Amino acid sequence: AGTPRMYHERVVDHYNNPRNVGSFDKNDPNVGTGLVGAPACGDVMKLQIRVDDDTGKIVDACFKTFGCGSAIASSSVATEWVKGKQTEEVLTIKNTEIAKHLSLPPVKLHCSMLAEDAIKAAVKDYESKRAKSNASEEAAP
Ligand code: FES
Ligand code: FES
Repeated sequence: AGTPRMYHERVVDHYNNPRNVGSFDKNDPNVGTGLVGAPACGDVMKLQIRVDDDTGKIVDACFKTFGCGSAIASSSVATEWVKGKQTEEVLTIKNTEIAKHLSLPPVKLHCSMLAEDAIKAAVKDYESKRAKSNASEEAAP
């Protein structure tokens, strides 16, 4: 089989030019923040999503990762993949898909796991904020 050269270049691009590096205001009710760490290496990843309340669609995403190149590239791919999707839809994103996309070696699988965990944590954070604000609206006179 031939080497998928184009594919490889696109993947390398995530290491050199990570997409969507940045931060949203974590107190914004439309923002979900996922902060996860890898006990094995001590690397930390923060991934944030901005969700449209009416449609449940993720309209924007960003990340900050203090970690290895594979973790940074995994967060970059993760932010690209969640944008434009429904919150429940992105819960099905598997770290193995990210690892495959980046051709990560087995020892780097935990780096892509951080991205999967960060997506889940960000959705959970958004949903718990939303549940709280719905509850306080109901309690209001
Ligand atoms: Fe960017 Fe695949 S090359 S998500
Ligand atoms: Fe730990 Fe990559 S070496 S996240």
